[in-house]
Order: sequence, then structure tokens, then C-alpha cells
Amino acid sequence: MTRTRLAIPLSILSCVASISAGCTAWQPARPTAAPATPAAVRPARPVAEAPPGSAAPLPMVLTPSVTRAATPELLALGKRIYDVQCAACHGVSGRGDGEAAYLLFPRPRDFTRGSYRLVSTWERLPTDQDLYRTISRGMPGSAMPSWAHLGEEERWGLVHHVKSLAAKAWVVAPAADPEGEGQTGKGIIRVPPSPPFTPEARQLALERYADACAGCHGATGKGDGGEDQKDELGYPTRPRDLTAGIFKGSPDPEHLYRRIVAGVPGTPMPMSDWAYGDDAWHLVNLIRSWSSDSQRARAEMRRFRIVARRVERLPEHPDAGAWRLGPPVNLHLMPLWWRGERPEEITVRALHDGTRIALLLTWTDATHDHTAMRPQDFRDAVAVQFSLGPEPPFFAMGHRAQYVNIWMWKSERQADLEPAFQELEKVYPNLGIDSYPNSKIGAVEQPTRHALTLGSDPAFVTGWAAGNIVSDPLRRSPAEDLVAQGFGTLRARPRDDQAVDARGVYATGTYRVMLRRDLAGRGPRAVTLTPGATVPVGFAVWNGSAGDRDGKKSVTIWQDLVLEP
Ligand code: HEC
Ligand code: HEC
Repeated sequence: MTRTRLAIPLSILSCVASISAGCTAWQPARPTAAPATPAAVRPARPVAEAPPGSAAPLPMVLTPSVTRAATPELLALGKRIYDVQCAACHGVSGRGDGEAAYLLFPRPRDFTRGSYRLVSTWERLPTDQDLYRTISRGMPGSAMPSWAHLGEEERWGLVHHVKSLAAKAWVVAPAADPEGEGQTGKGIIRVPPSPPFTPEARQLALERYADACAGCHGATGKGDGGEDQKDELGYPTRPRDLTAGIFKGSPDPEHLYRRIVAGVPGTPMPMSDWAYGDDAWHLVNLIRSWSSDSQRARAEMRRFRIVARRVERLPEHPDAGAWRLGPPVNLHLMPLWWRGERPEEITVRALHDGTRIALLLTWTDATHDHTAMRPQDFRDAVAVQFSLGPEPPFFAMGHRAQYVNIWMWKSERQADLEPAFQELEKVYPNLGIDSYPNSKIGAVEQPTRHALTLGSDPAFVTGWAAGNIVSDPLRRSPAEDLVAQGFGTLRARPRDDQAVDARGVYATGTYRVMLRRDLAGRGPRAVTLTPGATVPVGFAVWNGSAGDRDGKKSVTIWQDLVLEP
């Protein structure tokens, strides 16, 4: 056995075969006659709409202006959108078994059962307005995204299509209030006027809470009463930490009132019809007092306009003072596999100089995970995806023939560049390479086995020779320029078209990663950015020590990147 120096990181070698798990699949040399996809961008909207320096979210309307009954046209429209935007999670036939469902916790709803969590009726059935609001707002605390950017008609189409997937149709009864103590009402729960939240009312609320809620939600609302719980399908669930400000349904008082009275069907959270009247109001006020407006606002998935200011010179480093010119925008991140410890937000700044664009992405992470050498190692990373058309495709990496261009920065790539490759020997000091003797030839004729080093002939390092950027030990950028057309189709763009340069630094629990590229895209399926135009963008963050890799990550919904003219 000979001990030899291995100068090529395992992360690279393990990707030689191109499609092994955890590696970016590799795309052979660029086809010569590939038609250039027009990297369309939305026609210019006046940037003046964005007040200078501020980053207000675009308006989000959760309530429809009119109620629309199901028509064949509306159902057909709903199905068309569902197949593109919802099926990857909820499944084509609505069984909650889409191709991405295995990545999701909690699980996506099975629409064939007709059983819903967010309901506002005594019968614990959702009204059409309930479904409309859920689809519009999404469900913070899960991977159910907000669809508030869709038009009202499209959202109504989705409501009716989703309802049509249920094995049994339902009708919500006309509203009737309970007739007396111990009775329930019918139809939508009509919310009585709110009594004042006096110190006495608070005391009363604490008593009711201790009796009826603390067993699950814990004495102080931290969700630590009875943690080991299951939903109707036997999947684990847990009582909410009511101090975190995360509400799957709207936290607005009236909606929260109905949720407390109706409970959350399909979960252990019971109906509290006894509280109808003042008690439920006191509980609403108590629970809302345990989280702040800003906590609740942070949990909402909002669409922002990220304005890329036009400047004379782009910054050269993530710490450059020039970044102050780019207004910061904080975006809500949702882990696809929901967990308490999560990156809550990513902050984005953008600048351009008429020729190049620079993005600065900042987020907190308690651990600096920058190797992927041992099988149990996963590294931190960040990515931005650009829609190639004005209407963004499916938010998780596009849809068939609707490509997204993705720029991804990886912490181990950065560490390989500065100061040098992270060698296997550092992790496994006693590493050796076995040579198995060929019994058909004599001892002196045995071929010696050479370890792969930068001095090796690339022809024998197959991934490197074939132009797989993941296997190229000489690459100078810690960022990869990728394309995808739907979940599970991520590919590197050809080596010659890789044009994203990047620099990432980690200090005091915070990542600051700068990504830069020419505004003009190089080669097919590279986004082309034009001053004055708006492009839909989305972001993803991986936390290696939480086991994030590939589809296990935290993501934002689509945002608008606006380049100043
Ligand atoms: C990334 C995956 C994902 C996508 C895409 C997605 N959903 Fe969901 N959806 C979920 C998950 C997860 C839940 C369950 C959340 C929970 O139980 O906490 C859910 C729940 C729902 C519910 C149930 C609400 C309730 O009251 O129980 C509805 C309705 C819904 N989604 C509609 C849609 C529609 C319509 C689309 C497409 C426009 C869509 N979803 C796209 C993941 C997704
Ligand atoms: C048997 C256990 C149990 C009891 C008792 C219980 N809850 Fe819950 N509660 C849960 C669980 C589990 C969830 C999370 C459901 C989910 O995320 O799908 C929840 C969620 C909630 C939520 C979040 C709703 C949202 O929009 O996300 C609120 C608010 C809440 N409970 C309030 C109460 C109040 C008030 C009481 C007492 C009147 C109470 N709960 C009693 C188990 C319980």
C-alpha cells in the first residue's frame, strides 16, 4: 500500500460520474446550433414607483373583490395553473404526492380527502373565501407558498379546481349563531363585537388558557406542553410556539377568533365552541400579545421590488462601502422541511453600472460549514434564480421548457480558492490508496497507481476532461452558473459560458456573498438584464450543519429585481 498525496478534493472526485447525488449534473459541451432563448424581461416600469431608499413590499390583497362561482372556463383556468404551480407538491390528481412531496414537512395537503386546516365554519369546512385566502397568503410555518402575485380570476380558478379534486363535494350552510349555552351554530362563525382587553380580561384569558390550552402549548405559550403529537394521517406535528409570531392562518383578530373556535381540523388542535363570545376574544388578545407586529410581519411571504441602483463603479468585495448605495431588502425564507432553527431572512442588495450587475446576499448562520469531504459533511451555500420570461415559472426551479438561470455560490468552493484546496489528507491524515496486485504479471511489472493531482493529465480525470465545471480543479470562481427546467433538472451551463464571479466571507455568524456578472448573458439560457427592466428572481439558502443539500433548503417566493435605467 502506498501513501500518496491527493490534491483534488473528494467533492470533486465524487462528481466525476456527473449525476451522483449531491453533485450538479453535468451538461456536455454546448450544442453548436442551439437556438438562443430570448432572455425576455418585463418591459420597463417606471422605477419612480419605488420610493428612494425604501423597500416596501408590493401590495398583497388576500380578499377577493367579488365572489366567483365555478364555471367550466374558471375550472379549466384553475387546472392549467395548478398543473404548473401546484402539482409538484400536491400531485397531479391532488393526493399530496407530487414529485417534491418527499422534501416537505409538514406534508402537502391531500385534496381528495376534502379535509382542511384553515376553516371558519361551525362544521369545520372551508368556505371558498377561506381557500382563496390560504392560496393567496400561503401557510407560514410550512412550505405552502403565497400566490398573491396571481390575478384574482386565476386564484378563483385554483379554488374551484382544488375543490373539484375532493372525492366528496361539500356545501357550507347559511350562517346561524348558537342558540344558547352548549350549542353550536351553523355555517360561517359570525364574530361578535370585541370586548376591551382590560387587566381583568387578561386574567380571565390566562385562566381559560391554563385550563384548555397550556396542556399542549405550554404554560407560557412556547409550544412545549405536549410535544409528541400526530396529525390525522399519523405524521408528527407539534403545538405551535405562540411566542414566535408564525400563524398558518391569518393572525388578524377576526380570523384568529374563528380559528380558535373552530380549531384546526386534522391536527390535535381542538374546537373550542365553549369560548364563543367574550372568552374567545380574550384568548385572541392574549395570544396576539405574546408576539409583536414585527414578528408577525416578518413571517409573511411578501413580494418586494429589489431595486438595483445604477452606480459609477461596482464594489469589489462584500465588505466594500459602496454597498450602502443599494437599499437592503429583507426576504422571508421558508425551509421546505420546516424546523424551529432556521435562517429566517436573507437580505439582498443590488447595484449595476450599466455593464455589470452585483448582488450582495447576507444571512445569519451560526456555523461555518465549508467542507464536503466526509460523507456526513454538508456545506453552506446560497443561490439566486432568474426567470427567463416575464411570467415566472414554478418557483422551485422552473417548469418543463420554462427555464430558470441559477447562480449558486458554495462555501467549500470559496474555501478551496482561499487559501488553497482543502485536501483529503487534512481530514483523513492516514489516508492511503490501495493497489491490488495483478496475479498474471510479475512483481516488478505491476503498474503503480498514481493519485490524482493538479499535475495529472486531465484526460484521465474524466469529469475534468469532459468539461464538467464541478470537477474542474482550476476553476477560479466559487459560483456556478446553472439552468433548470423544473424540479430535479439542475444542470451546469457549458464551461465556456460560465461568467459569474463571486466572493463570499463569513464572520461573526453572518455570511456576506457577492455575485457579479455582465448584464448581457453569455450563451443560451443565460438571463439578460437590461437597465430599466424588471426580472422575477428567487433565492435559496443551504445550512450544511442542518443537513441541507440539494432540494433540502430554505427558499423565498418570487421577487422583482428592477434595474434603474
Ligand atoms: C412547495 C410545495 C407547495 C406548492 C408548490 C404548493 N403547495 Fe399548497 N401546501 C403545501 C403544504 C406543505 C401544505 C400543508 C401545510 C400544513 O399543513 O401546514 C399545503 C396546503 C395547501 C392547502 C390546504 C389549506 C388548508 O386549509 O388545509 C391548499 C388549499 C393549498 N395548499 C393550495 C395550493 C395551491 C392552489 C397551490 C398552487 C397554486 C399550492 N398549494 C402549491 C405545499 C405546497
Ligand atoms: C391537544 C393539543 C392542543 C390543544 C389543547 C390546543 N392546541 Fe392549539 N395547536 C395544537 C397544534 C398541534 C397546533 C399546530 C397545528 C399545525 O401546525 O398544523 C396548534 C396551533 C394553534 C395555533 C396556531 C394557528 C395557526 O394559524 O397556525 C393557535 C393560535 C392555537 N393553537 C391556539 C390554541 C388555543 C387558544 C388553545 C386553547 C383554547 C389551543 N390552541 C389548544 C394543539 C393544541
